[in-house]
Amino acid sequence: MEDLDWSNLAFGYMKTDYNIRCTFSNGAWGELETSTSEHLSLHMASTCLHYGQEAFEGLKAFRGKDGKIRIFRMDENAKRLQASCDGIMMAKLPIEKFEEAVLKAVKLNERFVPPYESGASLYIRPFLFGTSAQVGVKPATEYLFIIFVTPVGPYFKGGFQTTPFAIMRQFDRSAPLGTGIYKVGGNYAASLVAGQKAHDMGYSAVFYLDAKEKKYIDECGAANFFGIKDNTYVTPKSTSILPSITNKSLMLLAEDMGMKVERRTIPVEELSTFQEAGACGTAAVISPIQRIDDIDENKSYVFSTDGKPGVICEKLYKKLRAIQYGDEPDKHGWVTILE
Ligand code: PLP
Ligand code: COI
Repeated sequence: MEDLDWSNLAFGYMKTDYNIRCTFSNGAWGELETSTSEHLSLHMASTCLHYGQEAFEGLKAFRGKDGKIRIFRMDENAKRLQASCDGIMMAKLPIEKFEEAVLKAVKLNERFVPPYESGASLYIRPFLFGTSAQVGVKPATEYLFIIFVTPVGPYFKGGFQTTPFAIMRQFDRSAPLGTGIYKVGGNYAASLVAGQKAHDMGYSAVFYLDAKEKKYIDECGAANFFGIKDNTYVTPKSTSILPSITNKSLMLLAEDMGMKVERRTIPVEELSTFQEAGACGTAAVISPIQRIDDIDENKSYVFSTDGKPGVICEKLYKKLRAIQYGDEPDKHGWVTILE
């Protein structure tokens, strides 16, 4: 792949060599299959097309200085996909099968794993959806699980750089007892109008508050929120946000660094007390927040006046990346090295 401009990759789709597929029918998952086609043949009454029976995951593989390929916490993604399947009544894929499929997808597309120096990575996109026909609102009896991979650069423009976020009180992403805790396609459909509006206004993403009271912080677009103050890492506890694997990792890394960690409800006004703030996720890694504008309230919370990321954000970012790329020992056992 000599001709790819690895250092300037966007976060987007690029065709790779193979995808991995597995079907569920007659109550059982079949064998993993390898495909070179980017297309599917689907029944027009499939539940994924009508009733949103679809869930996905996102994880990454990194090429180290030593040339080895490391995959970050794939067991966590496997478990979260199972939770999403339970949440919208889809057949659950066994953890071992998920992991086997991830390894196979990366191995077969090894030439697309970006070189160490580029700072890019291979994004792995597993997804699972209902394929059998229903007209009544009922779960499917057949499912398809697929993994494709694609090399990616930073999710937010400019990579590790502060950007602004917007609270848009006229939109909700997910309900307190709804599907926000699952990684299902419908949540992202529900976020498109607000997301587009935020982009048009020059913001990176929408900063969501809890839908019921609009008093507490939920999350930032497709990433979790954390705030830093007085050597403490504070992140929301909420029934309407996705349990981020990156956030879970950062909480441990913060503790390793001697910080206190608090996972609790965060009133929106508390934003004014944080010294630093960030959005975190697989795609976002850590995206330090420059400021959050509460548009309808005509209020701004500023975390960086010179546009530079805060020192703790930077420290956490470097630590996480060092583990992912194999520059530092993987003392929590988060990384699977591809044989
Ligand atoms: N929140 C939402 C809504 C997301 O889509 C994502 C991305 O996966 C995250 C948070 C971050 O989760 P993770 O760190 O597991 O990628
Ligand atoms: C991720 O961080 O993996 C995401 O899912 C973000 C997004 C592209 C939906």
